[in-house]
Amino acid sequence: MSADLASPFTIGNVEIPTRLVLAPMAGVSVQAFRRQGRQHGAGLVCSEMVSCQGLHHRNERTLGYLRIAEDERPMAVQIFGSDPAVMAEAATMVETAGADILDMNFGCPVPKVTKTGAGATLLEEPARAVEIVAAVSEAVEIPVTVKMRRGLGNGSRAALETGPLLVEAGARALTLHPRSAKQMYTGVADHALTAELVQLVDVPVIASGDVATYADALSLIERTGCDAVMIGRAAQGNPWALGQMLDPDLPPPLPAEVLAELIYFMRETTRELGEQRAAGFLKKFYGWYLSRGGFPRSVKQELVRLSSVTEVERRLLELGDGVEDLVASLEEERPPAPDRTLELPISIYGGG
Ligand SMILES: Cc1cc2nc3c(=O)[nH]c(=O)nc-3n(C[C@H](O)[C@H](O)[C@H](O)COP(=O)(O)O)c2cc1C
Repeated sequence: MSADLASPFTIGNVEIPTRLVLAPMAGVSVQAFRRQGRQHGAGLVCSEMVSCQGLHHRNERTLGYLRIAEDERPMAVQIFGSDPAVMAEAATMVETAGADILDMNFGCPVPKVTKTGAGATLLEEPARAVEIVAAVSEAVEIPVTVKMRRGLGNGSRAALETGPLLVEAGARALTLHPRSAKQMYTGVADHALTAELVQLVDVPVIASGDVATYADALSLIERTGCDAVMIGRAAQGNPWALGQMLDPDLPPPLPAEVLAELIYFMRETTRELGEQRAAGFLKKFYGWYLSRGGFPRSVKQELVRLSSVTEVERRLLELGDGVEDLVASLEEERPPAPDRTLELPISIYGGG
């Protein structure tokens, strides 16, 4: 029997309505991206990795990452760090902010993070990894999960040794991106390891890496027995990839729909980050969106040179007929839900 990507599963007491999880991506997973992911079919969305030290020091920009809207839920917030007590404190702040799940990053390969003893380093320091998971599980009531790479070096199997220990320490689900930290994003994800991990633990396993189509998602679930798949790069500028995984007969978006979705996304992002931060943040999205719909490359080059989001929007509206009406219907269909009330000591609004 083939796996049903549109069926629910649970992490702890949290029901996740589909088997598609939107990946945490630093510099990408803003609230607008997560809401869009949910609207197109992701059952669970996740914040980008948030520094537990930044939360500890009440850094205003870091606190801004804890902004959660009702219509994103179920939603996980991912934290990273290496000190069990500071991670536990950060976890309680995440819980207070209204996250449904607390995820921990034991996979980040970036030297700035690994040299502090956080991210993928923890996979090869199982005693400290276990201490962190135990401290965090003790500190919060929401389910605690961990996202891992396979290990530090190529060929490492550290995730298979450390993963089961993390479950014993309280992790209620594991995500595995089976590339080594050294590999960064080169080569392919070795999901034979995911299949092994599924056999070793009795909590849900989410498979991350190289899932771009319905066929990829289905075959990964069938090959590995994982409970859900995570979609990262394939969803950048392409939320329709998620919808097509739930309904493979869904036609690709028309050019006007691509433009409307992008404009809606730009407006939401501007509301969230403020005009100035949004202008820089959005630049990478123009190419991602416009690679669909047959737009010439020169358009993207022109857009990234414009200095304000308003100018970009004006130019995009000229590229297709009826786009303004489509944006208006998206705004009517998806009015932003209010942010959850935060009982945090200072303003969490980093911008705008
Ligand atoms: C731009 C970018 C930022 C990322 N940031 C994070 C992060 O903050 N936390 C994390 O656990 N993984 C992060 N990842 C890894 C992804 O969550 C995912 O595991 C990886 O991209 C493989 O999945 P994919 O092939 O579907 O992209 C990031 C990946 C990319 C491309």
